[in-house]
Amino acid sequence: MDSIPREASVEANPLRCLTLGELRRRTSMKWRTYPDDVLPLWVAEMDVPLAEPVVRAVTDALARGDTGYPAGTAYAEALAEFARERWGWDGLAVERTAIVPDVMLGVVEMLKLTTGPGDVVVVNCPVYPPFYQFLGNADRKIVEAPLGPGHRIDVDTLENAFRNAVAGGRRAAYLLCSPHNPTGTVHTADELAAVAALAARYGVRVVADEIHAPVVATGVTFVPYLSVPGAESGLSLMSASKGWNLAGLKAALALAGPAAADDLARLPEEVGHGPSHVGVLAHTAALRDGGDWLDALLAGLDENRTLLGDLLAERLPTVRYAPARGTYLAWLDCRGLGLGDDPAAAFLERGRVALSPGTDFGTGGAGHARLNLATSPEVLTEAVHGMAAALG
Ligand SMILES: Cc1ncc(COP(=O)(O)O)c(C=O)c1O
Repeated sequence: MDSIPREASVEANPLRCLTLGELRRRTSMKWRTYPDDVLPLWVAEMDVPLAEPVVRAVTDALARGDTGYPAGTAYAEALAEFARERWGWDGLAVERTAIVPDVMLGVVEMLKLTTGPGDVVVVNCPVYPPFYQFLGNADRKIVEAPLGPGHRIDVDTLENAFRNAVAGGRRAAYLLCSPHNPTGTVHTADELAAVAALAARYGVRVVADEIHAPVVATGVTFVPYLSVPGAESGLSLMSASKGWNLAGLKAALALAGPAAADDLARLPEEVGHGPSHVGVLAHTAALRDGGDWLDALLAGLDENRTLLGDLLAERLPTVRYAPARGTYLAWLDCRGLGLGDDPAAAFLERGRVALSPGTDFGTGGAGHARLNLATSPEVLTEAVHGMAAALG
């Protein structure tokens, strides 16, 4: 593996490895949506080189010409071991998993297994914008149950939404985002158990999008939804995609609780043909051998969360920001800046910094912007300076 730069070794902070010039040679969405004078801190791609075990798995597969269809359960086995080590959860049963093309297509498939066209799916807004697009496309009716104080799940609001959703005997589901995008909220075991109890009471099926699970701040432990008491009929989607920056290497896993095994067994076989075999190999290597790299990333993200707080305090003190406990995203309350509903538009036009507009995240998003922290401290600093310049 002589071709892999030393900076990509497990000890280095992966967020400090690449220069802006190197990143601008990338051809992915983050780097090709805006002109070259714009700093992109929007879509959830990270400015990191790949973990060495991932590069090795992919290059070895290419050298073998091993580019056929996916087979076997190695991805699920690697995730089960990762879950045991990181989250102390030994309940991930490989026989109750299925490979799916990616998390969002997996979400849609899980909702097709548990609800029908026109049925309600409850979401906690503000939330990841594609939830609205994918569910709309799947002909599901979205009902918003806004997060409560501190961006935490509001059980009373959720109960009202569940009660209305099943009125008239219709099936309904709850699409839980855990950790939550964009606020970075990491739900506690008690909160998740309360969700499970509520779902059981109203017969609402829980589908948990746990794509950000590996990305938590130091001292924070992610709690898998299926690990809490009462969650037996739940379904979850997990992936190495966010933790190791593998969105372009398509693969994800659907997991079923014991009482959802029969539902998952009805997943059409062709769904499992969608993931990329090379993607499955990459994700498996990340989970199995990418722990040191992930730890270095998480330490770098801790630093960036603190740095962002310092930069905002200095340059944009009226922006309200609380360092998140999970994800590499920062949810900025910019309502004090007087930039209207879409402050990201001003940051882009006048500051040449691309953030995600809060209005895309549903109710509660107006006046906010989402910033992607998975970049170098230098880019983060330049971005906040650009945002401040937009006000001048
Ligand atoms: C909460 C959440 N779900 C799903 C996705 C997309 O995952 P995938 O590319 O595997 O569909 C993202 C991407 O940022 C996300 O933040």
